Amino acid sequence: MKTKDWFTDWFDTSYYHILYKERNDSEAQVFMKNVTELLCLSKANHVLDLPCGKGRHAVFLNSLGYRVTGKDLSKNSIKAAKPFENDTLNFEVHDMRKPLKRKYDAIFNLFTSFGYFEEDREDLLILEHIKKGLKPNGFFVFDFLNAIVVKANLVSKEIKNVEGITFHITREIINGFIIKNISFFAEGKEHTYTERVKYLDIEKMTYYLNKVGFTIIHTFGDYQLNSFNPEHSNRLILVAK
Ligand SMILES: C[S@@+](CC[C@H](N)C(=O)[O-])C[C@H]1O[C@@H](n2cnc3c(N)ncnc32)[C@H](O)[C@@H]1O
Repeated sequence: MKTKDWFTDWFDTSYYHILYKERNDSEAQVFMKNVTELLCLSKANHVLDLPCGKGRHAVFLNSLGYRVTGKDLSKNSIKAAKPFENDTLNFEVHDMRKPLKRKYDAIFNLFTSFGYFEEDREDLLILEHIKKGLKPNGFFVFDFLNAIVVKANLVSKEIKNVEGITFHITREIINGFIIKNISFFAEGKEHTYTERVKYLDIEKMTYYLNKVGFTIIHTFGDYQLNSFNPEHSNRLILVAK
């Protein structure tokens, strides 16, 4: 049975991982290298990847020598990440709408893992938990889509064949949300899922971060850490303290 929160169902399915299987892991690794160098993190530092999915950033960060915790709502993703655990890498199921129990040197929210919730107060609550989960002088790295570029390049209809499944995808922007409907036939039945991400531009993100007491210290537009250009950048990457 589907729950009312789309993100609880969709991200926990194997179909989500099939649809996005081509996501660029080498780009993610370049990003992690660039960010850890920028922040001058020491190997003793503890980084939280929230939410971590199956741990692609967390496992790589740990291979660079950092102590890393990955947390995600999806039980199946955490189950897939668990075999990679070691003395300095651990994974836990956690809902980011709940407070964190300890403090970290850096918290990373990567690859558009925000803006899923209806009310602004829910977004702010997550950022408050992140702020409280940081040690003094800890860093928050926030990697979100660039809403302006997404809007300008929105492909309203698309068909993707991945691993024998034909995904029919439609996209639209309604009432401040970027909505992606995904339907397909698999394992003998029709499936329909919706991804809903709030249209958050740099002004709104800045407002959110300042409201919970963060100061933005860097703004980048891609994983190579080039500067942010509202009309052209693929990503909106904010580093805050
Ligand atoms: C777009 S994926 C990105 C995952 C990971 N950062 C990556 O780059 O692979 C978004 C993730 O957010 C997780 N998620 C959604 N809502 C959540 C919540 N309330 N608390 C914790 N994780 C959540 C999903 O399970 C999913 O793994």
